Amino acid sequence: MIGRDTLARDLDRARQRTLALTDFDDAELHRQYNPLMSPLVWDLAHIGQQEELWLLRDGDPHRPGMLPANIEGLYDAFVHSRASRVDLPLLSPAQSRAYCNSVRAAALDILDTLPERDDDAEVAFRFGLVISHENQHDETMLQALNLRSGAPILAQRNALPDGRPGLAGTSVLVAGGAFVLGVDGRDEPLSLDNERPAHLVDVPAFRIGRVPVTNSEWREFVDGGGYVQQRWWSPRGWEHRVQAGLSAPEFWNREGTRTRFGHVEAIPGDEPVQHVSFFEAEAYAAWAGARLPTEIEWEKAAAWDPGAGTRRRYPWGSDEPSGRLANLSGTALRPAPVGAYPAGASAYGAEQMLGDVWEWTTSPLRPWPGFTPMIYQRYSEPFFDGDYKVLRGGSWAVAADTLRPSFRNWDHPIRRQIFSGVRLVWDV
Ligand code: AVJ
Ligand code: FE
Repeated sequence: MIGRDTLARDLDRARQRTLALTDFDDAELHRQYNPLMSPLVWDLAHIGQQEELWLLRDGDPHRPGMLPANIEGLYDAFVHSRASRVDLPLLSPAQSRAYCNSVRAAALDILDTLPERDDDAEVAFRFGLVISHENQHDETMLQALNLRSGAPILAQRNALPDGRPGLAGTSVLVAGGAFVLGVDGRDEPLSLDNERPAHLVDVPAFRIGRVPVTNSEWREFVDGGGYVQQRWWSPRGWEHRVQAGLSAPEFWNREGTRTRFGHVEAIPGDEPVQHVSFFEAEAYAAWAGARLPTEIEWEKAAAWDPGAGTRRRYPWGSDEPSGRLANLSGTALRPAPVGAYPAGASAYGAEQMLGDVWEWTTSPLRPWPGFTPMIYQRYSEPFFDGDYKVLRGGSWAVAADTLRPSFRNWDHPIRRQIFSGVRLVWDV
């Protein structure tokens, strides 16, 4: 069971991240960096609004809250598109921070009433949900800040380990057979609705990239005409490529440099490629004589221990994530070179499955059999019938506190402002 000390620590870590990502003047926080993103001040108050709803109002929006209803409504993501939020009469940064502080103080009072050895799994789950939600918005704010024009405003705070040569393009074998896909609340009390329940799935053998596809490999695809040869692309992908005029990953410049959080720099050849859409990933895989994984294949390669016949908590085992095992938590502002985390390898030998870049899969977001919506009913369910592809693993911007190999992210197949990359699969 997750104790209140852990929840209090993770709430505070998420808040420190949020405050660091919004530690700018009012004009900055109200800027719309890109129509795909909200102004940062929207994310800030939305984080507080969701925390108030799930922790203080039992998920019932009709229960009176701290904000007038018309103001609270501005933070409903289903009512106001990201592109339109900049024009809303939002709370000021000072008002947003004060609101988040008031909500947090009341939430911590509730947490204090939990017994030391928590026997209220549902209350702990709701705290976990709120921690996960805040951390996910922190990643969203990092996407926005990466799209910001002008000189850098975020400090890079952690040095990354060196990579190891010779790994790009190599693969490991995942033998065929059944494994346990997904998790139950008993084993992963903070897992979200779309990760549950655990169930047996048979998977034919396949090979999977030992590491994600690198910038050097992607450069060969670009230079070899990959973006202008239709044969590598799906019909939808090609139509999008032409219409959007794509010729390289987002943020790659003509001069062979890239722009990253305002830094213009040489593209590091041994870093996992970032900022590619599903359609580009699919074309790259075809060009490379491979394919993208299904999310089921991905999860088996990351979590299954064939020797023990059980799932591992993390690819490497049960040790808590650390800077020796994975690049997480959003302070590096970049992926680590491939081969940087040999100790983080999965049972099958796949490295960097968690951290660095989200990895596109061919799977549309659908419920696992037996899906039951959680208290935040609209977290997953409204997206099951949409045009979304699942991404797995977690980028460098993901918080270690809410990391699980069963975590499912999703986005439209054209999106690439996200910290998305590619891992290939080959049939055997
Ligand atoms: C799971 C990252 C796709 O940002 O749309 C945040 C997470 N849901 N607030 C999103 C989420 C509600 C969600 N993703
Ligand atoms: Fe949200």
